[in-house]
Amino acid sequence: MKIMEPKRALFQILSSSLVVLFLSLSCQHVDIKDRSAKTNKEELCLVGMGPGDSDLATFRAMDIVQEANLIICSKSLKERFSNVLNSKEVVSPPDGVWIWHGYGKKGSDFQGKELEKFRASEKAREQIIIKVRQAINEEKTVAILDHADPLIYGPWSWILEEFEDISPTVVPGLSSFNAANAALKKGVTSGRLTKSVILTMPDLPEMSKKDTIEKLARHQATMVIFMPTVRNTKLKDLVAKLTTHYSPQTPIALVACAGYQEKERVIRGTLENIVNKLGDQSLPFEHLIYVGDFLTHEMRLEKGE
Ligand SMILES: C[S@@+](CC[C@H](N)C(=O)[O-])C[C@H]1O[C@@H](n2cnc3c(N)ncnc32)[C@H](O)[C@@H]1O
Repeated sequence: MKIMEPKRALFQILSSSLVVLFLSLSCQHVDIKDRSAKTNKEELCLVGMGPGDSDLATFRAMDIVQEANLIICSKSLKERFSNVLNSKEVVSPPDGVWIWHGYGKKGSDFQGKELEKFRASEKAREQIIIKVRQAINEEKTVAILDHADPLIYGPWSWILEEFEDISPTVVPGLSSFNAANAALKKGVTSGRLTKSVILTMPDLPEMSKKDTIEKLARHQATMVIFMPTVRNTKLKDLVAKLTTHYSPQTPIALVACAGYQEKERVIRGTLENIVNKLGDQSLPFEHLIYVGDFLTHEMRLEKGE
């Protein structure tokens, strides 16, 4: 057996390490290439675009947007991402139409004004479905963009059923819930008495009565209420429901425009004083309500409990 000189052995070790380093760097390079190669194959993709300023959209979301031949999204998203969308074919549902409304139902399930609303939504949906099918038949790629996380109270989640035959993919997006957690600077799962979070919305007459806000309040978990003003819901009515189980001293926070550096705003109080604190101020549709002792809880003081 031939024994190598120490200098030569050292040289061989160093050069093989360099080869390994080079190979792993070039693998990373291939990875990046693969990511965009993959996006080419997506026929239809539901893409979460994040909750606020455009830099909260992920790299993956932006890759899909760049690659897509046809984009479907609301007018507000079109504006928010105008730098990439202006040069693309973009289709938006007409103003005032709830694109998700009544999906899977029939006209006979509605009456009066609700029937009118349903017909308008159904028509807008049909137009979008035709447009998407046409594009797919022409071997184009289609991206349906949604605000924030498309699968949390997402108005476009129905497309996953409608186009099940072509297996749409989903790109996750940051939710307004994530952006609002950051605005509050508190661990939402680190309450004094709870480790859980309930995401919910106001009780609407047509919805299940099993998970009303009063019933959920019994758990005393952190509660996050989406769309707090839907159908003219009033803060004082929500607070009345919450205080059936949370004590009046329970902390509450209203987080408006989470994730927009220029507009983000937090109003804090307790269940007993928040209505007065809000006073006449009106909050935008884009606000969330947080309830729970995590808002004031300090882990440093936990020791003796
Ligand atoms: C139809 S839901 C859509 C939720 C969205 N999919 C998400 O993941 O945040 C609309 C509600 O989300 C909340 N929301 C959306 N964007 C927000 C933001 N930037 N700041 C605070 N709340 C927001 C508001 O409660 C709003 O009424």
